[in-house]
Amino acid sequence: MKRVTFADVGDLERIKREIMLSIIYPLKRPDLYELYKRGLKSSILLYGPPGCGKTLLARATAGEVQAKFYNIKTADLLSKWYGETDKNIQFVFEEARKNSPAILFFDEIDSIGSHQDAEHHERRVLNAFLTELDGFEDRGDVMILAATNSPWSIDPALMRPGRFDKLLFVPPPGFKARVEIFKIHLRGRPVAEDVDLRELARLTDGHSGADIREICNDAATFPLEEALQGKPPREICMEDFLKAIKSRRSSLLYWLRVAKLKIVERKMEEFFPELFEYFKELGASEEKVFGYA
Ligand SMILES: Nc1ncnc2c1ncn2[C@@H]1O[C@H](COP(=O)(O)OP(=O)(O)OP(=O)(O)O)[C@@H](O)[C@H]1O
Ligand SMILES: [Mg+2]
Repeated sequence: MKRVTFADVGDLERIKREIMLSIIYPLKRPDLYELYKRGLKSSILLYGPPGCGKTLLARATAGEVQAKFYNIKTADLLSKWYGETDKNIQFVFEEARKNSPAILFFDEIDSIGSHQDAEHHERRVLNAFLTELDGFEDRGDVMILAATNSPWSIDPALMRPGRFDKLLFVPPPGFKARVEIFKIHLRGRPVAEDVDLRELARLTDGHSGADIREICNDAATFPLEEALQGKPPREICMEDFLKAIKSRRSSLLYWLRVAKLKIVERKMEEFFPELFEYFKELGASEEKVFGYA
């Protein structure tokens, strides 16, 4: 797989800074962290709507440091056999310890101990995970990062101090971010002069980074197909983008609605203040999102 770095992630500057401070620099400059006695106990949990860069950020983090990177799809650790799951969990933590400096990334961490179905087996799995996490106090240079798009399914036990206690909201891209994401996904493609990135960003309010990537792919498909049929190859023009945008609906509104409902219903607001800040900032456009007008 191609090496991804922070330059491939549009915007999200605040989150990149946090990751630098909590994961990348501790690995690069342990001497300075030792000098200032800045502890490394907390781990980062990225949460937010689908397609807005959580997994991409994690891959980019790996690309920024010379550390072993374990990209773990959390569901893959789970086995229906009792005991097997515990072993898998122990194994990844042990491997990371042996091969440190290392970054352990648990993607889609909501598959562990989701608290609506806290049956016996689920509890066991969660406990096995917590045991490893807590036993990691003296983790040296193993950093832990996780991501989820259903933060309301996460057991609050995972978010206690010393565990995932840095919860960062990866928001839908704003205007400036969308301009950057278009730029990133158009790198190296033949783009006509009439293509106005600011106009494209304006037209894609409410779309995720993944939506924008697909819009760029769709737009490129029009001239590609023509060329395949024997026409002389031409650049991708504004018209192509407009057609591509028309055929794509945003998936973010639905997520925002569900997130608000579920988090309020489960009384988990205190864990996700940044998300509620975001709802507030939506302000005037909130009625568009939540449908009350
Ligand atoms: N900020 C961004 N800059 C550039 N590309 C982006 C950005 N956000 C998303 N993308 C594009 O969308 C793709 C999907 O994003 P990613 O896999 O990181 O989403 P996610 O937040 O992990 O979603 P999910 O919750 O569904 O796992 C990326 O591989 C990338 O091509
Ligand atoms: Mg992801």
